[in-house]
Amino acid sequence: MSTNKHSHAQWGSRLGFILAAVGSAVGLGNIWRFPYMVGQNGGGAFVFTYLICIAVIGFPILIAELMVGRRGQSNPITAMARVAEQNNRSTAWASVGFMGVLAAFLILSFYSVIGGWSINYIAKVGMGEFTGISADAVGNVFTGMLGDAKELLKWHTVFMLFTIVIVAFGVTSGLERASKLLMPLLGVCLVAMVGYGMFSSGFSAALDYLFSPRFGDINAEVILSALGHAFFTLSLGMGVMISYGSYLGREINLLRTASIVVVMDTGIALLAGLAIFPIVFANQLDPSQGPGLIFITLPVAFGKMGGGVIIGVIFFALLTFAALTSAMSLLEPVVELLEEKTPLNRAFSTIVSGAVTWILGIAALLSFNEWSSFKILGFNIFDFLDTLTGKFMLPLAGLGVIIFVGWFVHRKIIREELHISGTSELVWHIVARFVAPIGVIIVFASQILDLLGYKLADLLAYFG
Ligand code: PHE
Repeated sequence: MSTNKHSHAQWGSRLGFILAAVGSAVGLGNIWRFPYMVGQNGGGAFVFTYLICIAVIGFPILIAELMVGRRGQSNPITAMARVAEQNNRSTAWASVGFMGVLAAFLILSFYSVIGGWSINYIAKVGMGEFTGISADAVGNVFTGMLGDAKELLKWHTVFMLFTIVIVAFGVTSGLERASKLLMPLLGVCLVAMVGYGMFSSGFSAALDYLFSPRFGDINAEVILSALGHAFFTLSLGMGVMISYGSYLGREINLLRTASIVVVMDTGIALLAGLAIFPIVFANQLDPSQGPGLIFITLPVAFGKMGGGVIIGVIFFALLTFAALTSAMSLLEPVVELLEEKTPLNRAFSTIVSGAVTWILGIAALLSFNEWSSFKILGFNIFDFLDTLTGKFMLPLAGLGVIIFVGWFVHRKIIREELHISGTSELVWHIVARFVAPIGVIIVFASQILDLLGYKLADLLAYFG
């Protein structure tokens, strides 16, 4: 990044921006969360819904966030307020940015716990803990880790410390350079594992499971999970992409850049699915077992394959790296906000926000053991944070941004920002004003009906 005359830093190049945005988007969401969401929501039914959510809701909202950032040239809250002012609208729109920053803080707390599992697994695989043992025994290693609060705390702390150091010292440019090499390597590693899966007995079952949706399985819960995951995986609804957009130069084509981010992110998630499900089916594991899925299936494969120890160590190291580049983008908006609104400098802002996140993370990790019976609205703390952010806060904040950009930003600005006119402009307006917001609203409405005990399909059948 170099500083330009407007005193706001800019990405040195389009590649630099893409690396950072892909670094934020690609992380535990793609490799840990996507497969277990697929498993819990009926396989292909989820994949199908998720792909639609990415294309018609995630992609336009990504463009809208980047646009607000580039126009507003500031953190998410100030950027929303500025763009609102430029369009003679109320600065109350800034509250959308505020909710995003709050969500980022909540997400980082449990994200760091999972990042800790990933670091822990570098060591476990490296020491050959999984070599030659049965799938059941691999499952027991995972359950053993979950039951041990001290162990979880140790690795959560290590992950959080890494994140704090990276953000406090602003070594982000070094990370960006590293990601030029490591992100493609993660892709290669996944492709190799898909290759391994192709020769296993579970491959055709996995293909069928992922890509032959049973449409009858699509219900309100599946749709809301898919929508929430689309936001999570593209880092939307948290102001992260607004912050990143503010560093984006005028000359950069937003539509093209956003498409690259979406394609890479979705590609990595699908590869992860193709790598994991053959192992699930070849070893008769349970696809719907939840957050432990990759930490049980992958070590089973690493324990069996030749060179599995080395490949396993490389894999979990790359996963940890991908998680760190995402975590740093989650902490950044919180730090920026503290820096701006309090007398604290950057280092202290990072330490304070990192420490508060770390404490909340402890509550999340205790929900796997000591506090497992403590429930909020029927959820343990971990699931509560995940559900509150993923299913409610992110979609709501994203809805706010797209309604704002679709309905309250002058057409002239949109034309300038997106370089569109004629038909493409019409398509944008239809998507930004109707398709994306109505999509989010329908998902919410059906969820609320669901909570009240009605099924949307039943109601439609009743009226139809
Ligand atoms: N998109 C990241 C992932 O999929 C997580 C993340 C969410 C990062 C929101 C930043 C902001 O792992």
